[in-house]
Amino acid sequence: METKLLKANEESIDLAIKLLKQGEVVGVPTETVYGLAGDCSNPSAIKKIFEAKGRPMDNPLIVHISNLKMLKGIVSQISTDAKTLAHHFWPGPLTIIMPKGDKVCSESCAGLDSVGVRMPENEIARRIIEKSNVAFSAPSANLSGKPSPTNAQDVFNDMKGRIPLIIDGGECINGVESTVISVLNDTPIILRPGVITKEDIENVLHKPVSIAKGVTELVDDNKKVLSPGMKYKHYSPNAKIVIVKSSLEKFVKFVNSKQNEDGIFAMCFDGEEKNLKVKFVTYGKLEDEKAQAHNLFSCLRHFDELGAKIVYARCPKKEGISLAVYNRLIRSAGFDIIEL
Ligand code: TXA
Ligand code: MG
Repeated sequence: METKLLKANEESIDLAIKLLKQGEVVGVPTETVYGLAGDCSNPSAIKKIFEAKGRPMDNPLIVHISNLKMLKGIVSQISTDAKTLAHHFWPGPLTIIMPKGDKVCSESCAGLDSVGVRMPENEIARRIIEKSNVAFSAPSANLSGKPSPTNAQDVFNDMKGRIPLIIDGGECINGVESTVISVLNDTPIILRPGVITKEDIENVLHKPVSIAKGVTELVDDNKKVLSPGMKYKHYSPNAKIVIVKSSLEKFVKFVNSKQNEDGIFAMCFDGEEKNLKVKFVTYGKLEDEKAQAHNLFSCLRHFDELGAKIVYARCPKKEGISLAVYNRLIRSAGFDIIEL
């Protein structure tokens, strides 16, 4: 299959709409990461998404809408918490898990009786939904297991020959996927952290919000997990990533001791590279959590272009937006952490 990579304009958007209506899969920009969009009501379109990514069939997709009226039929019930969250954070990078409605095919929800929904902030994504009146399911547009794509070229590198069209809407603003929150029970629970933080959500709901254990810890494959996506190894470049939890001084000393080994790289915060004797990539200042989130995935992909074999990464903080960075990085490292 030929894969077209077209700049976003009226013509390419119309082509995307035509393909979506025909049950095809299209790469689209969002404010978080690029998505692989397919009509959420069409099982054959959803199967194509899973095939294009090589995604395990038990990992459900997020449905994207462009206005609140579209929720009807996609969800069967909207709780007070869900309403409050939608009102405050949509359009934006928050996915709300609610009881599933009949309009979404069960393949999209991997057989669960709940569905994750979000209204993207990105104008191009919203225009495609609004003009087609097709709510689309969309996972991140990477091959399963690889870092999520934050620009159209990264989508092309993973998806060429697998889907007919990618719409190029430039670089994603946020760079990490949406915050996923379940409001199925009285205490809302964050299943995946993002740029909308626990504190942001608590300020709006005026009640405590919990964070699923799997956000920072390895979950047991055999146990029932709240969010199936949490159990898979994720976001991994070809290089092996190892997180080093230590002071900067100890980090530099440790990494420099490996300088004669082949393909060793450091992944550190801006300004920390001064005394390093190995090659490095920086991904934002230590205190600039937005920049870290924005750069993380492109940084991970960059290591492959550089031919890195082992990457020693400085450990991000576990709070605010950095929690989202930590959550992705620890998965890309397969939970391999060295503490010095
Ligand atoms: O920002 C985003 O959310 C991007 C863009 C394209 O919108 N999409 C995205 O999709 O990250 P994906 O498929 O890569 O991640 C969806 C996550 C998975 O961890 C999945 O397990 C979880 O959301 N999820 C989806 N539906 C769920 C449900 N009903 N219950 C629990 N977790 C769910
Ligand atoms: Mg993903």
